Amino acid sequence: MVVKLMAILLLETALFLITGHVVLANNSNWNHEPLEDTTNAVLKSIQSEDGDIIDCVDIYKQPALNHPALRNHKIQMLPSYVPTMEKTPRKINRAKRKKNKLYSKSESQVSVTKQIWHKNGSCPEGTVPIRRNMQTMNKALPILSRRYNSSFNRSKHEFSQNNTLNMLRANHAMSILLTEGYAYTGAQGDIAVYNPTVEGSDEYTLSDVSLENGGQGFFEAIRSGWMVNPMVYGDKNTRFFTYWTADGAKSTGCFDSLCPGFVQVSKDIALGATIDHISSPSNRPSQVMSISIYKDQNTNNWWVDLGGKKIGYWPSELFEGLSHHAASVQWGGDVYSTRLTTPHTATAMGSGEYASPIDWLVGSIRGMRILQYSSGWKYPEWTNTYADQYDCYSFYLQIVADDPVFYYGGPGSGGPVSRCH
Ligand SMILES: *[C@@H]1O[C@H](CO)[C@@H](O)[C@H](O)[C@H]1NC(C)=O
Ligand SMILES: *[C@@H]1O[C@H](CO)[C@@H](O)[C@H](O)[C@H]1NC(C)=O
Ligand SMILES: *[C@@H]1O[C@H](CO)[C@@H](O)[C@H](O)[C@H]1NC(C)=O
Ligand SMILES: *[C@@H]1O[C@H](CO)[C@@H](O)[C@H](O)[C@H]1NC(C)=O
Ligand SMILES: *[C@@H]1O[C@H](CO)[C@@H](O)[C@H](O)[C@H]1NC(C)=O
Repeated sequence: MVVKLMAILLLETALFLITGHVVLANNSNWNHEPLEDTTNAVLKSIQSEDGDIIDCVDIYKQPALNHPALRNHKIQMLPSYVPTMEKTPRKINRAKRKKNKLYSKSESQVSVTKQIWHKNGSCPEGTVPIRRNMQTMNKALPILSRRYNSSFNRSKHEFSQNNTLNMLRANHAMSILLTEGYAYTGAQGDIAVYNPTVEGSDEYTLSDVSLENGGQGFFEAIRSGWMVNPMVYGDKNTRFFTYWTADGAKSTGCFDSLCPGFVQVSKDIALGATIDHISSPSNRPSQVMSISIYKDQNTNNWWVDLGGKKIGYWPSELFEGLSHHAASVQWGGDVYSTRLTTPHTATAMGSGEYASPIDWLVGSIRGMRILQYSSGWKYPEWTNTYADQYDCYSFYLQIVADDPVFYYGGPGSGGPVSRCH
């Protein structure tokens, strides 16, 4: 054991001597707390073919720990509590689906955890992969300050509305399934992965699972899924992302590890890295991201699991309301653009096709589940669907027994079938 540790240490030292240079994410825009000198923290750097550089950073020196609230944070290496029913309900439902012809397609999904940089190396034990930040990053991206005050008319399952939930947020067009009104301690979904068009370099499109709490001014959110965002990443690749804020994006929060907060434990998955496989006509079966976000009931940290890999967590110290539970869960797509009026942007959502249960190449989320403390994973009792701009980004909730499928997306103003102007 000791010998093995020594060997790893020696190897890492050697790697550091080889790579040699300072390879620290440029977080100088995060001006609350400057990063400490982490020159010695990077043990290896991997040049990925998509242009990214992935730094393997000593897990105990990762930038997350520079958050003032995490000065004395002890890294939790594994969740102490893993909600148990993760597999069971999906299995049961798969069996049920088999009886339903429409669902034969969903049988052929694979969960993606491969990232492009994996082709060019891996990070050693005791490190976490961090994408070197080459963009200058405005941490106060105008994302996610939904007015948390909707008069919510609950109905079982299929009650749908187009734009009456009072959720309008400037420059956002969403098509989502949501549930609220209870205390949620987890959410998951299998999100089909695509590479939709993003027209402008100041726009983005994302698909994710989101848990939220709090009202205006102290709105808190944690989100994870995939995103095409040239502003943050400098290209139009489909990337795995996480996001958090604790005050409606006023002064806290950011994507990935562009500001301190999210504590990584996996040596395999880098936040913000390009996904290796996306769904396309030539790439069956369809590729999905199986995302679970759940609260460790002992530490109150919020864990993110991607396809069975425990990526890391948002420490409870970051939050007020979310240190207890979430008040709302959302699944679906979100397009950010300053051109959501005429002439409308051609930035697409989902696969870029309108929602439809017939075509398999359409944005979809399956296996949607929530946790309510010790309840076990289940489909929520109450849900609602919502679209800001139904003609541009539509949705369709298909009710199948206790395992509905949420189809969503659209082309914006792009392409021949667009109804969006
Ligand atoms: C980091 O960003 C600051 C300010 O934007 C800039 O002055 C500095 O040169 C950058 N450093 C690196 C290594 O890119
Ligand atoms: C990364 O891996 C790919 C595939 O093995 C290879 O073609 C490419 O040259 C590698 N890139 C670098 C920078 O090593
Ligand atoms: C929320 O709704 C209440 C009652 O309708 C209203 O008094 C309050 O101003 C609203 N708050 C926000 C932030 O819209
Ligand atoms: C909720 O919706 C139902 C059905 O559309 C309607 O009858 C009822 O008045 C609504 N309740 C509220 C509080 O809006
Ligand atoms: C939403 O509005 C569009 C037209 O704007 C309509 O075609 C569609 O049926 C509506 N959907 C729901 C669920 O109300």
